[in-house]
Amino acid sequence: MITDDKNDDTDSESSLKLLDYEPTADDFLEEALAGLRKSQKTLPCKFFYDERGSKLFDRICELDEYYVTRTEIGIMNKYAGEMAEAIGPDSLIVEYGSGSATKTRILLEHLQSPAGCVLVDISREHLLRVASGMAGEFPEVEILPVCANFTEPFELPETKKNAARAVGYFPGSTIGNFVPEEAKRLLGNIAEVCGEGGGLLIGADLKKDVQLLEAAYDDSAGVTAAFNLNLLTRMNRELDADFEVDRFRFRSFYNEEKGRVESYLVSGSAQTVHVGGEEFRFEKDETIHTENSHKYSHDDFAALAAETGFRVENVWMDENRMFSVQFLSVA
Ligand code: AVI
Repeated sequence: MITDDKNDDTDSESSLKLLDYEPTADDFLEEALAGLRKSQKTLPCKFFYDERGSKLFDRICELDEYYVTRTEIGIMNKYAGEMAEAIGPDSLIVEYGSGSATKTRILLEHLQSPAGCVLVDISREHLLRVASGMAGEFPEVEILPVCANFTEPFELPETKKNAARAVGYFPGSTIGNFVPEEAKRLLGNIAEVCGEGGGLLIGADLKKDVQLLEAAYDDSAGVTAAFNLNLLTRMNRELDADFEVDRFRFRSFYNEEKGRVESYLVSGSAQTVHVGGEEFRFEKDETIHTENSHKYSHDDFAALAAETGFRVENVWMDENRMFSVQFLSVA
């Protein structure tokens, strides 16, 4: 059973309690309008993940071209024992952006007597389903769902067991979706939440052949395109917008200088769109920047960690050195 309550007093042995800081429709509208008013129009990629968006993302993760997920899972399967050793017994795991939590399950299977597992995700329904499934699969681990935009401060729920340390888990190279300034702020927040003696296990995608990168972010089946276009459908439904979705197309490419794949929605013609009562003019071929996916060298990532109060302790990679999972300790 899941208790869906902002109050702190509804726990029982057999229930999961949700801490709910879900962004409101007002937050979505405000951020979407702020992005569309810029000369380079933007929309925040965190809003991709409504119910349909989360399902499309799960499909992306299964695509041949999208090497990210299967490579990271391969690394987890091979090295989760070593990772668990680095994390240590009785740790509280805090997963940032838990999604389907496939990799968290692998980690939990290897951890020694974890004090609990906090799952933080912005997509409420998806989070509740996943948390409930995990509570069934790991009855000995306290599963604590928190619906929140994890880039904003949120309170960690209380655990029944005392934790020896708090360790963040941030897989999937989601850190790559943040520009360097935001990534620093976020990692700094995580260092503060985990505190002295704490750590962070994080997935970081590595720089590689441009063709591989561009195929991963513009797949031949068009799932990534649908994932991006779904943001417009979501705005029509939730923000009283009137995008004609089939008058936009998807485009992505690797920006060598910035070390990132950039994704855009491109207006197929000159058109006017209304969002929340405001009017936006698009020229033909004008773009909305929807997402960045940064790729790192080892030096890039170690420098980012060092600037945010972390020290890189261990790096695990697949044999082709496509992806890394790194354990950082609070310095
Ligand atoms: C969630 N995030 C790390 C994915 C990425 O690789 O940037 C989102 C994604 N966008 C397109 N494909 C996958």
